[in-house]
Order: sequence, then structure tokens, then C-alpha cells
Amino acid sequence: MTALQPAQPRVGRIAPSILSADFARLGEEVRAVEAAGADLIHFDVMDNHYVPNLTIGPLVCEAIRPHVKIPIDVHLMVKPVDRIIPDFAKAGANIITFHPEASEHVDRSLAMIREAGCKAGLVFNPATPLSHLDHVMDKLDIILLMSVNPGFGGQKFIASTLPKLREVRRRIDAWRSQGGQEIWLEVDGGVKVDNIADVAAAGADTFVAGSAVFGARDPDGGYRSVFGRFREALARA
Ligand code: DX5
Ligand code: ZN
Repeated sequence: MTALQPAQPRVGRIAPSILSADFARLGEEVRAVEAAGADLIHFDVMDNHYVPNLTIGPLVCEAIRPHVKIPIDVHLMVKPVDRIIPDFAKAGANIITFHPEASEHVDRSLAMIREAGCKAGLVFNPATPLSHLDHVMDKLDIILLMSVNPGFGGQKFIASTLPKLREVRRRIDAWRSQGGQEIWLEVDGGVKVDNIADVAAAGADTFVAGSAVFGARDPDGGYRSVFGRFREALARA
């Protein structure tokens, strides 16, 4: 498995969601976003049960793994979660996150992810309370806040995510000041060039962007200009 840290320190990590990629050319698409400066590949797994859509599983993760060096960030929108965790670890996932409502035993699921050699995280829907963090801070490498209701790309950013992000940033900083481990703060849904600065200012350090990246292919066939615009906006934040 590749190292979790991106090659160079950045203002923020950008994680293109391949949900909006051309699935008929997935290898080429992930190579193109890596070449354009992506820090992670965000991999949305939906089961038509926990969320009303059906996407991709470990076989596709394994298929894209040799095409990129950057970490693969697997976002599980499936219920239950435990059965599928080892399969994604074997398929080359580096980060695995899941929704607490989808696991009967959140502590066990988090431990399973780390035991499988991956970074572990919890995902919060817009209406999911942050109390799920209370007893598991030591088991988290990443916290992911949904800024849309999960299931589809191309939805509008829900504004109440910003105060929630500030609250999670406060909790992470307090945890770190007590000697706790590093925890990334990722946001997912409706992130665009024109709102990424506000999302960064609220405390996020890792930004999922699906339609904003894959909907902005350059005339030369790459994605460099959209990453340039994201980096400029982040530099201003
Ligand atoms: C939604 C997914 C997101 C989505 C983001 O359930 O988890 O990762 O693909 O897409 P955009 O950036 O288009 O909102
Ligand atoms: Zn996602």
C-alpha cells in the first residue's frame, strides 16, 4: 500500500470523487487527475440500501490501484459495513470511512479498518449528531462531514455544514492540544471553486470534489486548470 501522506505539504488536500468520472475510461481518468495535482482519489461506494444508488466495489478499487500512486480514499455508503472492510483493504484502499448509522458496532468497525492496515474515519450526514465522536477520538484518522445528503454527485452545498465544520475543527484542535493523534477533516458534497475558501476557513483540510473536477476537463484533455483555480482559492482562504 502507498503512504498516506501526499508528496508535498499543501494548504489543502483535494480529493476528486470518481463518481463523476467517465466510468468507461476510469484508468485514464484517475491518471489524469493525479497528473493535474490530486492528493487523493475519493471512491464512493453505494449499495442501494443505505443510500438510494448503486456504484462500485472492491474489484474496481483493485483495477484502478495500479494506475495511481496517491492514496485511495474509500467512502462506504453501505450497510452493514464490516463484511466489506477487508475486501477493500486487500483491493488497495488506504483510507476507509463509513457512516456510524450503518454499523451496529462503530468501535469495532473502526478497529477493523486499522487492523487491516488502513486509516479509519467516520462520516457525518448533514443531520447526524457529532455525539458519535465522543468515545472514539483515539480511533480516528479522519472525520468526513457530508455537505449534501449522500447518494448522488452534483448536489448543492448545504450551508449548515459550515458551523458544523467549525465545531469539529474545535474538537480536533482540543484533542490535539491534549496530545491526541492527527485527524484530518474532510468535507464532501457541492464543493466548488467559488465556495472552497469558505469551507477551508471553517476548518476543513481535505476537500472532495466530484462534478467540479470531472465536469471541467481542459481542451488539452487534462484537469490542470480546475486544480489551479482550486489552489488559488485555497491560497486566498
Ligand atoms: C455523494 C458522494 C460525493 C459526491 C460528491 O454521496 O459521497 O463524494 O460524489 O460529488 P459533488 O462534488 O459533485 O457534490
Ligand atoms: Zn463521497
